[in-house]
Amino acid sequence: SENGYDLWLRYSLIENEAIRTQYTQFSSKIRVAGNSPTINALKSELMTGLNKMLDITPQISSVSTESYALIIATISNLPDNADITGMPEINDEGYIIMTQNVNGNERLIVTARTDIGLLYGTFNLLQLMQQQRDLQNIEVASSPRINLRLLNHWDNLDRTVERGYAGASIWNWQKLPEYIDQRYIDYARANASIGINGTVVTNVNANALILTPQYVDKVKALADVFRPYGIKVYLTARFSAPVELGDLDTADPLDPAVQEWWNVKANEIYNQIPDFGGFLVKANSEGQPGPQNYGRNHVDGANMLAAAVKPHGGIVMWRAFVYSPDEGADRASQASKEFVPYDGQFAENVLVQVKNGPIDFQPREPFHPMFGAMPKTPLMMEFQITQEYLGFSTHLVFLPKLFQEVLHSRTYQPNRNTRVADIIAGTEGNQALTGMAGVANIGSDINWTGHIFGQANWFGFGKLAWDPDYSLEQIAEEWLKMTFTPDPEFVNSFLPELLESREMPVSYMTPLGLHHMMDAGHHYGPGPWISNMSRPDWTSVYYHKADKSGIGFDRTTTTGSGAVNDYAPELAKLFNDPATTPEELLLWFHHLPWTYKLKNGRTLWDNLGMKYQEGVDEVGQMLETWKSLRPYVDEERYEEILMHLNIQFKEAKWWKNACMLYFQEFSEMPFPPEMTVPD
Ligand code: GCU
Repeated sequence: SENGYDLWLRYSLIENEAIRTQYTQFSSKIRVAGNSPTINALKSELMTGLNKMLDITPQISSVSTESYALIIATISNLPDNADITGMPEINDEGYIIMTQNVNGNERLIVTARTDIGLLYGTFNLLQLMQQQRDLQNIEVASSPRINLRLLNHWDNLDRTVERGYAGASIWNWQKLPEYIDQRYIDYARANASIGINGTVVTNVNANALILTPQYVDKVKALADVFRPYGIKVYLTARFSAPVELGDLDTADPLDPAVQEWWNVKANEIYNQIPDFGGFLVKANSEGQPGPQNYGRNHVDGANMLAAAVKPHGGIVMWRAFVYSPDEGADRASQASKEFVPYDGQFAENVLVQVKNGPIDFQPREPFHPMFGAMPKTPLMMEFQITQEYLGFSTHLVFLPKLFQEVLHSRTYQPNRNTRVADIIAGTEGNQALTGMAGVANIGSDINWTGHIFGQANWFGFGKLAWDPDYSLEQIAEEWLKMTFTPDPEFVNSFLPELLESREMPVSYMTPLGLHHMMDAGHHYGPGPWISNMSRPDWTSVYYHKADKSGIGFDRTTTTGSGAVNDYAPELAKLFNDPATTPEELLLWFHHLPWTYKLKNGRTLWDNLGMKYQEGVDEVGQMLETWKSLRPYVDEERYEEILMHLNIQFKEAKWWKNACMLYFQEFSEMPFPPEMTVPD
């Protein structure tokens, strides 16, 4: 169908004769070895994919003879003459795809150590086919570099989704456990196809009810659907659950009765879901209960829960997103203050889950300074796929580029060449637990993500969780080809726009290091004037600090908050001086006069105006490019995307006008000639 429901698993009929002949040959005699729910899922995907792409009904055998054109089998089940000795080592989730010549006939092999590896390999083969790649002499060996590749759903039990812009939650708690929506299966297929192996199905602002037997039954039904696809289920644990569910009058983590309550709760859950993943916890943040309510710390809280799930092989992901309504303090420093001193004290099945930046999923932030500062604690990454501060599901923004920018940032600690990616992939220590989470942008809209291009962000998140160094061009190209068409005219025209789109909201919302200027509460549209909130750190003026003397947040050592010192000394030194601070982060670290000169010799004020204009112009350009691609895209999706781009263009101007007119009250300078205002 053309409504976007099929995501990147469309399996469109392949028109190219040569390619289709090649694939049909490989599909003529297929052997899939093994017998398990995962193998069944694999076979069914293979049947669907080949049937749709090649218009054939493939015959799949499990008997072992030598004459197959496609063999899908674990390494131990490969025929004797299948030689994989020259291929790189793979891990338990990895896979190999290769062709071999046997008696003058080319055959295709997909192999792995486990059935899940085979499933990943098969999905990958089907993706190569959708991209119409020549499979002659293909050699792929791929293993995930991060162990836990999770989606975090901020879904409530009443089916509202916190910061969700794609309709209601896909979890229909009322009909579960009996009613299994086809969406659950398609959700699992989509995730498995990009290597996602876990899902936290409930909101971080947790409802304790999810832990009651009635709900655990429902969660079990989901876990049963996801298991064949290699996806484990996790839940958020509300810290005060022992009190709220009416059993105890305290949730103090050092109280033996509380510890016992969680042990019993964990047993209850594991009785139903033996491979339950564990808990994700938001504690003592934005009013959520936590150990500090009882005079205890994050370690006390995390380790108590970790002890409860440990006998079952479970883990705890303890979030570092904390900040308190403290008038004088810099919000950017608070997580570092609360966590870094506890490095090395968390139990071995605890990961601390850290947002990519120190404030909150802004269009651009420097990487979170906790990365690199806690070498004895496994830190996992939390990205936000849903676009809370990036135009919801209305604006087109290619987030994998934002993600990789963070992953590739150098932390300079513990080693000079360390990057954020090395820390979360565990290559900097002997870390057993590694993880990356993405706050899902998924809802019950027909196309799952509200904006068709939101699908690219889900897809790209999965690819980067598998391999943080996966090429962005490749992510964009694969997704465009599979979602629309492999036609090079189309792909070559829109690929540069897609990659560029990451920078657009930075330019038209918060250029040069500005941040958190969205309207209050819902965070949509401009609100640089927001000043009257119950907490100063919920206002915009707290972040941009514009006045007659200039604009920006001074985080330097001598005159500012000193937050630069949360980073390694090499970086603190760079960030302390506006001349050596990267211009894209200038106002994150400095409060500078409107007349301050940037590298191009123009004033800060002029540069702000030029950036806002650039953002608007680039969206306009993207819109024009999209219009030129009408012949390549079906009517329904073409129009839908066009309407969204028109809104984005209008709103980019809205942002520019609102921000520049507001700031002009302080700068009292004329707009630069490059800029058109208002328009
Ligand atoms: C942001 C977001 C909240 C969310 C919070 C979190 O502040 O606006 O809705 O609960 O992040 O990550 O916990």
